[in-house]
Amino acid sequence: MNPLLSRLQPYPFERLRKLFAGVQPPAGVRPISLGIGEPRHATPAFIEQALSADLGGLAKYPATAGEPALREACAQWARQRYGIALDAATQVLPVNGSREALFAFTQVVVDASQDGARVICPNPFYQIYEGATLLAGAQPYYAPSDAARNFAVDWDSVPADVWERTQLIFVCSPGNPTGAVMPLAEWEKLFALSDRYGFVIASDECYSEIYFDGTPPLGGLEAAQRLGRTDYKNLLMFTSLSKRSNVPGLRSGFVAGDAALIKAFLLYRTYHGGAMSPVVQTASMAAWADEAHVEENRRLYREKFNQVTPVLARVMDVRLPDASFYLWAGIPESLGLDDADFARELYAATGVTVLPGSYLAREANGRNPGAGRVRMALVAETAECLEAAQRIAQFIESRQR
Ligand SMILES: Cc1ncc(COP(=O)(O)O)c(C=O)c1O
Repeated sequence: MNPLLSRLQPYPFERLRKLFAGVQPPAGVRPISLGIGEPRHATPAFIEQALSADLGGLAKYPATAGEPALREACAQWARQRYGIALDAATQVLPVNGSREALFAFTQVVVDASQDGARVICPNPFYQIYEGATLLAGAQPYYAPSDAARNFAVDWDSVPADVWERTQLIFVCSPGNPTGAVMPLAEWEKLFALSDRYGFVIASDECYSEIYFDGTPPLGGLEAAQRLGRTDYKNLLMFTSLSKRSNVPGLRSGFVAGDAALIKAFLLYRTYHGGAMSPVVQTASMAAWADEAHVEENRRLYREKFNQVTPVLARVMDVRLPDASFYLWAGIPESLGLDDADFARELYAATGVTVLPGSYLAREANGRNPGAGRVRMALVAETAECLEAAQRIAQFIESRQR
């Protein structure tokens, strides 16, 4: 067996199951989960119809590069969304959701034969970054993003000897779980570091379409173009239909950026078996070409966050995020509970599931930047999320009396 498998950490939901083992919410209370970040708004009917419109494609093997028309639809979307120019033939590649792509791309970039190969992950972070790094034979370095800096990642805290060994960094903007969006000045800093040390930037942007004011989050490729880096050197964006179009089961996204990285990734995927089903390609084309359903989706999230956030803000350190569908809430110290105890006791008292923040982060330099916080995914319908928020508020208030 591959010995690196033993270095993988248990997934946060596995830890949550163990934490809740034997705990029962009060009889007659309907459980509500804010734990898993899985979109639950309805899939638009036109996407379902497009999925079954042409089943003839099932009779042949799809090309790993995807149909030119799909790559063009992706490039066109990026052009409209970010005002960037992409060559669909060389700078775009469809992937089966961003999760598999983030994992597979790490295997393409990391050269484990280099002494002390490093990959930098924000902390807290999406756990695939860490698993992909470990299975590629590299060592993760965790760069903190905490409340004191408004959840911006503290890139300046990374020591020079780590940058020297760094082959890849993950950026997650809008962030999971913090919802923070990375501004242009930070991109500028990262591009300068990438030029100096030669690392690749994987920009995970799967929450880019869920935002609350009129300003769409800045994208990595958009930042590069604004700074004159029109070849997107050493940069790849990962985006996805899962959250944008409420199709997490479709498994569809695309990567775009540096043509040299796309070429290497395409070669890898040819062997890995990363081609997208023709049926999914047809549905994806329809989804990328339509914005009306995305606006409606955003409206639903905006309405929900506007109702739920003030209820929680009465009792917790929480505010509307820049983007994403998460609230990243600080637990009042006066409760005297760490985040895992808080989640367990909350579940026992109210039937509401939240995810302990420390499960989404790692202890580094003596502290876990997720400690004392919980992540709440507002994916259920508004009434259910509001009811969960009211139960949480009552739970906290009753403990503070
Ligand atoms: C930060 C982040 N990146 C990537 C993904 C993967 O999404 P998908 O594979 O559905 O595109 C998720 C899913 O929850 C996520 O939270």
